[in-house]
Amino acid sequence: MDTCNLDTSLSKQLFGDDFAWGVSTAALQIEGSCDADGKGPSIWDTFSSRKGKILNGDKPHIACDFYNRYKEDVDLIKQLNIPNFRFSISWSRILPNGTGRVNQAGIDHYNKLIDYCLQQGVEPWVTIYHWDLPQALEDKGGWTNREIVNWFTEFATICAKAFGDRVKNWMVMNEPAVFTGAGYFLGIHAPGRTGLRNFLPAIHHVVLSIVAGARLLRGIVPGANIGNTFSCSYIEPFADKPRHIQAAKRADALINRLYIEPLLGLGYPTDEVTALKGINKYILPGDEANMSFDFDFIGIQNYTREIVKYSFFTPYIGASLVKAEKRGVELTDMKWEVYPPAIYQMLKKFDAYPQIKKLIVTENGAAFPDTVFNGKVNDERRVTYLQNHIKQVLKAKQEGVKVHGYFVWTLTDNFEWAEGYHPRFGLIHVNFDTQKRIIKSSGHWFANLLR
Ligand code: NOJ
Repeated sequence: MDTCNLDTSLSKQLFGDDFAWGVSTAALQIEGSCDADGKGPSIWDTFSSRKGKILNGDKPHIACDFYNRYKEDVDLIKQLNIPNFRFSISWSRILPNGTGRVNQAGIDHYNKLIDYCLQQGVEPWVTIYHWDLPQALEDKGGWTNREIVNWFTEFATICAKAFGDRVKNWMVMNEPAVFTGAGYFLGIHAPGRTGLRNFLPAIHHVVLSIVAGARLLRGIVPGANIGNTFSCSYIEPFADKPRHIQAAKRADALINRLYIEPLLGLGYPTDEVTALKGINKYILPGDEANMSFDFDFIGIQNYTREIVKYSFFTPYIGASLVKAEKRGVELTDMKWEVYPPAIYQMLKKFDAYPQIKKLIVTENGAAFPDTVFNGKVNDERRVTYLQNHIKQVLKAKQEGVKVHGYFVWTLTDNFEWAEGYHPRFGLIHVNFDTQKRIIKSSGHWFANLLR
């Protein structure tokens, strides 16, 4: 694998003219202004104020101040030659109580952002839900309450009607497996709930809501390009032994198949993880007809691979991940293994579902300990990471995989959920005291690729 910054073997022409290059963000991670102009609190505002939940006690209240600095940042996107910008809408900015009264200032904000993108020739790609549930709805049970399908439909309808005249690319929700797994089973993300009794109903209500959202977009936005994004990791068994191979299959079902399969009409992967059979209790008569959608594209988000071992002690799944730190491999600041072939493997895996028409890598990137030196940030490791991953995407494409886009995570360093501001994922460095932005070497490298 070559690691040279001056590597010229990659060129955007190799991907064709219709390949969408972009950069991805999420409202909670960049906007700040957590209570500005009538915004209500989200579960992340609440969760981050609880002691010990976020590394170093960091809070998303200011983040990158994108709410006020959106023009500066869209200008940077343009300067970096990035044609597509993915961002999400903060539900509690639009509906401070989650439902009911609409906060016009919230709508105005996203109108200004969308209009500014279009004026600058940057195409907006909107994620309706990227994890920041209004606290008012969590107080009524959040994703565990079946009513949320109606609450989400109300929010998504407002977004589609307000922005659909200009926004054509839509993703209903971001990484459902992560926000339900971390937020409703493990309790390490907001709202901090745990156990199957929260996880299982949340899964089913999320599936119904994604389908409801996708259908209403189809009805309201003429010519919409509708997708949803999915986290995925390449899974390999710890050793070539039946018990590890079986454990890897169970982990794969939970990590990679849990949402995509019902949404493609294949049902929940209860074959591998029997604990998932508990979902049946939440499936009401008539639900089957409302659990799948013919998406225009599927967004895949891959960062690493996982090695899985049989574990007697892990309830429900009997499998555990062998930490990358213990494997002597190269690590990012998230302690994730750097393993570029993973993205190729995941593209192949998703491409094998005949129901999927188009794949887009809606996130890929890495956190490294970047430092400013003489006013510059020379993040060579990120350049290498991106180069090597993009090469794997190209390899898949050249083998006929229907991949039609690649978005870097992310534009600027930002609030990385429970990890706070420590992991820096940006193409652009942010000084969180002064809000000064510095384009990193990776940003210049990406700009050059897209020139
Ligand atoms: C997945 C999530 O969509 C995003 O919010 C997060 O920051 C990145 N991956 C990196 O962990």
